[in-house]
Amino acid sequence: MFAEREATGGEAVSQERRDAGQNDMRILGNVVHCDGARATIAAFADDAEGVVTGQWKVGRMISINLGPTRTVGLVYAIGKSDLAWNAGSRNPIEVSVELVGEVRDPAEPGGKPVFDRGITNYPHIGAIAHRIRSRDLQAVYDLAGRRAITVGALSQDETIDANIAIDDTLARHFAVVGTTGVGKSTAVSLLLRKTIAARPDLRVLILDPHNEFAASLPEQSVRIDTSTLELPFWMFRLEEFVEVLFRGREAAPEEVDFLRDMIPVAKNLYRNPNAGAFLKRGADMTTADTPVPYRIADLLKQIDERMGLLESKNDRPALKSLRTRIEQAAADPRYRFMFHSRLIEDTIHETIGNIFRVPHHGRPITCFEMAGLPSEVVNSVCSVLARLAFDLALWSEGRLKLLFLCEEAHRYMPADSRLGFAPTRHALSRIAKEGRKYGCYLGIVTQRPGELDPTILSQCSTVFAMRLANEQDQAIIRSAIADSSASTLSFLSSMGQREAIAFGEGVATTMRLKFEKLHPSLIPGSKTRAGVAPADLSGEDVDLEAIVGRLRNVSRQQPATGFAEAVDAARQAGDPDYQRPAAPRIQAGDDFELRYGLKPATFGMRPQNE
Ligand SMILES: Nc1ncnc2c1ncn2[C@@H]1O[C@H](COP(=O)(O)OP(=O)(O)O)[C@@H](O)[C@H]1O
Ligand SMILES: [Mg+2]
Repeated sequence: MFAEREATGGEAVSQERRDAGQNDMRILGNVVHCDGARATIAAFADDAEGVVTGQWKVGRMISINLGPTRTVGLVYAIGKSDLAWNAGSRNPIEVSVELVGEVRDPAEPGGKPVFDRGITNYPHIGAIAHRIRSRDLQAVYDLAGRRAITVGALSQDETIDANIAIDDTLARHFAVVGTTGVGKSTAVSLLLRKTIAARPDLRVLILDPHNEFAASLPEQSVRIDTSTLELPFWMFRLEEFVEVLFRGREAAPEEVDFLRDMIPVAKNLYRNPNAGAFLKRGADMTTADTPVPYRIADLLKQIDERMGLLESKNDRPALKSLRTRIEQAAADPRYRFMFHSRLIEDTIHETIGNIFRVPHHGRPITCFEMAGLPSEVVNSVCSVLARLAFDLALWSEGRLKLLFLCEEAHRYMPADSRLGFAPTRHALSRIAKEGRKYGCYLGIVTQRPGELDPTILSQCSTVFAMRLANEQDQAIIRSAIADSSASTLSFLSSMGQREAIAFGEGVATTMRLKFEKLHPSLIPGSKTRAGVAPADLSGEDVDLEAIVGRLRNVSRQQPATGFAEAVDAARQAGDPDYQRPAAPRIQAGDDFELRYGLKPATFGMRPQNE
């Protein structure tokens, strides 16, 4: 009986007549109690013929007719006060609703109804509660002209689109939270697909710990993994470099001090081979953090020189262990993306252009696949990338808009400040706090909002809360929602797959929605999971030879002599990778100027004959 749909167009007069005719059918009950924020409605669970209507359900919106306005309420509890069911007679029930706002008819005929949060006209006792009209429901979630993308449908009425205001969702940062398996990653890939279509200017970098997104965004994305990543060591800040050298363990302070002194000298030597160990002081002074190239060989040479000095006798053990550390890292195939010899040249434009898709060639999304990376590398690389994302947006003066999307964000920004890697946390909180001003946006995905740094979550102005089983996690989300419809969140523990409660800047009113269904081939991780077919379990497809090769590689690449000697030998043998450019190619100040529109080859500094 409630299957009728209202016409969206048509004459207002006929619309009204139809509404009047349907009023009887839409009557659900009468208001019997009301305080400032909530009301109770007396109704029947069944109609006069004893048929149970099922119209009253927790989570639905209803409207209370007050003449010129209709109060919109959200059902949060239903019950029969005697907790007994009469099979023979009608069953009275009490329905508790939270008052969400008011819908007003448009001034001019044919216009759309208008929704306002807050109540100016409270329901009186006896006021009639209706099933809400489709047009009113649409008005509740209307985005008032803000640019919108459709991500699914309302849970209550699947004929109504669930729209979000994409510009505000991005600019004020967003979070997707929910238990593993409820559909977060799928929702994110759906969001990205639609976002890219609406915002072709946007670049996205996904930190993808399960290597699952590239397959789900096949036309929009490129992937970077350990074998294709090129992130030269000299782009790392000292603390990030130290994290790699010490493999995530506590660093020895004296060794860090040596690095802090010697890296700037090595950088100077690269720019000006005749400079010796004299350092320029003043405004354009090079520090260990300045992203200009240097050679590991020059660094090692300084260590050797320092070891040879008479007065550094006591420093020798520390210098020796630092030297070994650097040599080992530089020879480790897992760190090839940092120490690959080609990267010693000034490739910064190329590196940044590749990672952040400038120009994007129709694929503005980069999936940074981290599944194979050692954790200390993940830490430093995430820190470098987050830093670069922010700086790039900042220096492009608004021309580049970047979304930095963190899957499993609680790993990089744990609530416990002793865990995690401080520089990553720092770089991400800089995006969260200031990114908006420069066009650098943050997207956070986590299954444990309780374990995520609360200051980061509080910077996310739009939250898509999917099913959350854990009490503590639910409490965090409940405390994050400021508006009146807090009782919506009582549904957090019981929502279905693909369902989410969206609240904050990106929606007009807290909205319970169901994300669109994605084709199975486009679900993140579908390829990875499909790969484990029963036949594969025998292990026949495991390439042991390749694995052993990789293992051997580690020891084979350990230099028999010192790394510096090896580099010198290569240089003398005329290896083009080790030829210094004739003149320093970079000037202080222009290190980070991305030259728009230039083809990568024109600003890359590959050795000539490569
Ligand atoms: N929008 C959707 N369309 C179709 N299937 C979905 C959707 N969302 C979730 N699923 C199903 O749920 C599974 C888990 O989703 P996933 O996004 O990986 O969850 P999470 O990232 O929260 O762990 C998917 O493999 C898919 O089968
Ligand atoms: Mg996931």
